[in-house]
Amino acid sequence: MKNTVVTFREAKKKGEKLSMLTAYDYSTAKLIDEAGINAILVGDSLGNVILGYEDTLSVTMEDMIHHTAAVTRGAKNALVIADMPFMSYQASVYDAVVNAGRLIKEGHAQAVKLEGGVEACDRIKAIVQASIPVCAHIGLTPQSINVFGGHKVQGKGEEAAQKLLDAARAVEEAGAFALVMECVPAKLAEKITNTVGIPTIGIGAGAGCDGQVLVTNDMLGMFSDFTPKFVRRFAEIGEAMKDAFANYDREIREGGFPAPEHTYGIDDDIIEKLY
Ligand code: KIV
Repeated sequence: MKNTVVTFREAKKKGEKLSMLTAYDYSTAKLIDEAGINAILVGDSLGNVILGYEDTLSVTMEDMIHHTAAVTRGAKNALVIADMPFMSYQASVYDAVVNAGRLIKEGHAQAVKLEGGVEACDRIKAIVQASIPVCAHIGLTPQSINVFGGHKVQGKGEEAAQKLLDAARAVEEAGAFALVMECVPAKLAEKITNTVGIPTIGIGAGAGCDGQVLVTNDMLGMFSDFTPKFVRRFAEIGEAMKDAFANYDREIREGGFPAPEHTYGIDDDIIEKLY
């Protein structure tokens, strides 16, 4: 059955956990969908794991639309949420609504995600008023990396913790249907989860959240430029890929590939007549 924002709302009411993974292409989206994951996030982490940038700041609307459209073609049942890239919503409410609309109309996502707490609420409200569901994202928000000065846990002191709790309440009030919390102490994330009525999706925020999200390339062991503490590798696909590539290379050199079963036949008569 298709997951929607209603599935998310119901899951919170029933205390059922939600699962989310990132995807950036058709084939991966199809596999994630077939595994029964509730939601696929087309994260702007594509800047790191697909495009090879050092951060997410260079990702464009065109990148996001291109990859979101590929993912939505592969996702039948998962709710597809597209990230709003840096500077697609920061400058004005108008930009926010127009760009959210493009991710729905051209990327065919069913919801968008944007980073920020209280300061993002006017954008969240306006996008929701345009009938586009919004997932908020607080805590470590990678688009603010230059303000944070690195990938650091957020909300550790009393003032910072209160600010995150206030942000969670504010984005719910603004109309967000869900809230991603990244790199937040587990007890604070649990307190926020028990305070708000919308589902919280944690990444580095402990088991007390209503759901979890990971970057697929991290959890598959396909991306090793940096590995945050919160990542668990559920497979070593990167090593399996390297082995397969080396095996392919060896088989070509040693004449083992292609074998007769991988080739197409032609009558010997025809070959003999050629001059
Ligand atoms: O871009 C992304 O993949 C994200 C997740 C880390 C939540 O925002």
